[in-house]
Amino acid sequence: MSEDLKLSILNKLAADSLIPDTKTAFANVSSETILGALKSLESQEKVTYETITSEVSSIEPEGLDQLKNGSYEARIFNAIPAGEQGISIAELNAKFGKMANLGMGKGFQNKWIKKSGANVVRLVDSIVDQIKADLQTVEATGGNPDVEVIKSLKKRAGLIKQSKTLSYKVSKGANFSTELKKQATDLTVEMLQSGAWKSSEFKKFNFDSLGINPNGGHLHPLMKVREEFRQIFFEMGFEEMPTNNFVDSSFWNFDALFVPQQHAARDLQDTFYLINPATTDELPDFWETVKDVHEKGGYGSIGYRYTWSTEEAKRLVLRTHTTAVSSHVLHKLAQEPYRPAKFFSIDRVYRNEEVDATHLAEFHQVEGVIADKNMSLGSLIAFLDIFFKKMGITNLRFKPTYNPYTEPSMEIFSWHDGFKKWVEIGNSGMFRPEMLRSLGLEEGVQVAGFGLSLERPTMIKYGVDNIRALVGHKVDLGMVQTNPACRLDKKMGKEVFQNKMIESGN
Ligand code: PHE
Repeated sequence: MSEDLKLSILNKLAADSLIPDTKTAFANVSSETILGALKSLESQEKVTYETITSEVSSIEPEGLDQLKNGSYEARIFNAIPAGEQGISIAELNAKFGKMANLGMGKGFQNKWIKKSGANVVRLVDSIVDQIKADLQTVEATGGNPDVEVIKSLKKRAGLIKQSKTLSYKVSKGANFSTELKKQATDLTVEMLQSGAWKSSEFKKFNFDSLGINPNGGHLHPLMKVREEFRQIFFEMGFEEMPTNNFVDSSFWNFDALFVPQQHAARDLQDTFYLINPATTDELPDFWETVKDVHEKGGYGSIGYRYTWSTEEAKRLVLRTHTTAVSSHVLHKLAQEPYRPAKFFSIDRVYRNEEVDATHLAEFHQVEGVIADKNMSLGSLIAFLDIFFKKMGITNLRFKPTYNPYTEPSMEIFSWHDGFKKWVEIGNSGMFRPEMLRSLGLEEGVQVAGFGLSLERPTMIKYGVDNIRALVGHKVDLGMVQTNPACRLDKKMGKEVFQNKMIESGN
């Protein structure tokens, strides 16, 4: 904002001691600019001001036409020759187009003209074009005519437009002077040393200003949704598993889970194997039990009947699922005296997948396992019903599927109202005795498990349709900084979330 404007305000005040209306005094300066200058001068107590709000009328394009050429009814009247013959309506229509009807209508109303057969004739010798006169008044008063004029013009649409304008009445302030000193914002060492502080003017603190947003940390949307899932798990009595082992041996990721060494999921195309180091030296002490169950079976199973290789089991992988974590935790649980237990984990897993809009080579899994005696598939179904209900997802169905480590295994489906079909939202099952007993869990202890991705509900919740906008180098940090807190609504909006979750196709 220009210092010139501030100076001319001060000079005007020095001369007249009052500026009654800045709109007249500074006709070419916008009211925002004036206000800026006044606020700055006011903070130095050089002026005080009051706001004057007023309404001005401006003439719209249609009004401008009538101001210049007369109202439609006047133009029609003038086109009708005096005398009984008048003019034919057809001729008026041809000459005036759409305007003819409007003008004739008003002319009839005003009793200026009347119909006579197919013609219209004059009823009076001369007319006063009030519309035109009123518009002239608006123009002459700079948009400030009497209310009566406004009222009558507003009866007809499209003639004038009213808008509020702000103006200011300015008086001298306590510190009035026509001198503009640069105000100091800080008391400096130099000012103290030179004594300049005595004559300096200091800028006042502005306690109304909003201040700068503190640049704190921000949680990524995935972490916000993870937090919601964590709360649901905690509510249901789950303990969190330690997931800080992104690299694990094939043994824990596959073999301990009774995944045969020839299984397709162990292919290079599906799993990332480490190159350096490529293997671990050690296998846990129960590796022979695992070898036996793969080769010969046990616990009612005949096994896979192939020669199990320790070398294959020692190969290091980026864990392909959080079930690798569950296998560690279940093994640890088996070392303690029996207790029923519920565990969950939410963390990153890696798969050598083709990357596209909805798939990345790394993603997060939400996984839960429940260990107890006398558990059945019905217990798992009942649990999943409650778990998903807490996220607002009701109406589940289950479809048999195959996992090497669970039997029975079920894909979890939810009904999509919009698509009118069932859509998959997760995978689950009862862990096989071949796995559980090798891990050391005693007979009679069953473990139910399930897993789903964290990305899908997050993408739905935050309306992100390309996963690369959520994870990776293309993520917009502004999105991370401004996205709202996440609530997996239990009541409000639950249908919306449910439908969206399913819409995205899992
Ligand atoms: N590990 C499975 C997956 O990656 C999910 C799952 C976990 C299935 C536990 C059954 C039991 O999809």
